[in-house]
Amino acid sequence: MLHQSAISSHSPIGVFDSGVGGLTVVRQLRQLLPNEHIIYFGDTARVPYGTKSEPTVRKYAAEDTALLLRYEPKLIVIACNTVSALALDTVQETAKGVGVLGVIKAGATLAIEKSEHKRIGVIGTQATIASYAYQRELHRLNKDVQVFAKACPLFVPLAEEGFATHEASKLIAKEYLAELLDSRIDALILGCTHYPLLKPTIQDVVGKSVELIDSAEAVAREVKAHLAQQQLLSDATPQPPRVLVSDMPQRFRTVAERFLGMELGEIELVAL
Ligand code: DGL
Repeated sequence: MLHQSAISSHSPIGVFDSGVGGLTVVRQLRQLLPNEHIIYFGDTARVPYGTKSEPTVRKYAAEDTALLLRYEPKLIVIACNTVSALALDTVQETAKGVGVLGVIKAGATLAIEKSEHKRIGVIGTQATIASYAYQRELHRLNKDVQVFAKACPLFVPLAEEGFATHEASKLIAKEYLAELLDSRIDALILGCTHYPLLKPTIQDVVGKSVELIDSAEAVAREVKAHLAQQQLLSDATPQPPRVLVSDMPQRFRTVAERFLGMELGEIELVAL
């Protein structure tokens, strides 16, 4: 409860991911809630998270949360499926009473809504897929749904490298997605916040009949509802997000600015 006392509607929203992926959530937050001040942390020194074990992901998640708490946020958004799947409770415990929202429930709910035949594909990191978090959530929401899951670990470095629309990404996407297409899915959950960066490439490979589910927009709606309910919506003047990274700020800037379509101020290097 220590941190709650300092919270007001002008407190920032803290958002974190292992790298650039969480910016897909920041983009949607900025569209829906332009008056909110966002502090974003990308753990670029330790990306990727999705190939690591659960204890390691929990340790990173606790440290990322502790870092954001230094800025006294009114809400923490886990813009990372891997952390949401493996360590939501760790983040909640570390956040000491500050609200926490993850991305899994929003993505699963949207997929059920959009899928006509309830044959849903889900792609994510190795850790997310092995955790069964999406499979469990989808079945909890609708017991008749058929879920086809596939880990696509190479998509994360391709997004980090700015290779989202490169021909190499298309070849890799074809290889990864072939078995899901054979299963006649009609919706595909992009169960990693890095993957929307590759959206045009993935859509090209799966074709128009498969609806891509990007949970970022649904998460932004959840954030708005949460803040409204807590009477914490800001009416401050819009300002660019404050961006913190744990390594290589310059490299992060190139991909981040291209993706957000805006110039960012100083990208701050922070120690965890
Ligand atoms: N963007 C993250 C996710 O949504 C993590 C990717 C990674 O670091 O492996 O899972």
